[in-house]
Amino acid sequence: MDTSSKITDKELIKWAFVASKYSYSPYSGFCVGAALKTGTDAIYLGCNIENASFGAANCAERTAFFKAVSDGVRDFEAIAIIGRKNGEDPEDYAYPCGICRQVMNEFCGKDFRVIVAKSESDYKVFTLAELLPESFGPEKL
Ligand code: THU
Repeated sequence: MDTSSKITDKELIKWAFVASKYSYSPYSGFCVGAALKTGTDAIYLGCNIENASFGAANCAERTAFFKAVSDGVRDFEAIAIIGRKNGEDPEDYAYPCGICRQVMNEFCGKDFRVIVAKSESDYKVFTLAELLPESFGPEKL
């Protein structure tokens, strides 16, 4: 029996675009969307949520992770991320910031896949180990 994931990278990217539509980013105008795939093939969406007190902003990736973890889900396989200026197509790949990589490292293994996309057909895939080598994680404590 084929137990491999039924959600393709392209589908996950499509959901990241949907998530970016909910971005609350009146200060930067940069809309980020993330679609986080769980081990049971569920998808959690996240967008960036800014604040008049700039430091209170939350990135799209962490929004998706915190939604899932607060639902009791801690088994993750992949995340797709897109970033674009208001209403425009992405100009470049949107890589996760350092804090988001650290949050991924808390809940994901080294093989967790990070998909950064400009479109459903133009994307790159990295493992978490590639994006956060020599990491500090829960196994160190
Ligand atoms: N942002 C994300 O949502 N994810 C990242 O990994 C990097 C940055 C957001 C935060 C802020 O709302 C906007 O992009 C500009 O920095």
